[in-house]
Amino acid sequence: MDQKKLVKAALKARGNSHSPYSNFRVGAALLTAGGKIYSGCNIENSSFSLTLCAERTVLFKAYSEGERKFRAIALASDSAKLIPPCGACRQVIMELAPGIDVIIADRKGNYEVYSTDELLPHPFTQNFLKR
Ligand code: THU
Repeated sequence: MDQKKLVKAALKARGNSHSPYSNFRVGAALLTAGGKIYSGCNIENSSFSLTLCAERTVLFKAYSEGERKFRAIALASDSAKLIPPCGACRQVIMELAPGIDVIIADRKGNYEVYSTDELLPHPFTQNFLKR
């Protein structure tokens, strides 16, 4: 099943996490409309605010390879809790991959699925840039 496969890929992607400051490893896996899976992880920086979350890493990776249509993103950490995407990542997911399933998993692979609308109601979009 696609969702379980994606969660597994997100759990595996944690392995590449560069998180020496928080020691909080996060992995993400992104399923394209064509069935390809991209993976990404959080990459921290000593200037903390420059840290890139796993979700944005994987979305930027896929976009930079020319991908534009996606079906789902999975997110997993070492936590026993289901880890939801941070606010910044919700905004980026909404803009780059609106309407996809957002699968949040715990370290054992238990998961729940949310829509992008549920996670970010009343989003800021490009429409608001038109004056
Ligand atoms: N982190 C993510 O990768 N994704 C999120 O949605 C939440 C937070 C990372 C950023 C930082 O490296 C670590 O988790 C602790 O905040």
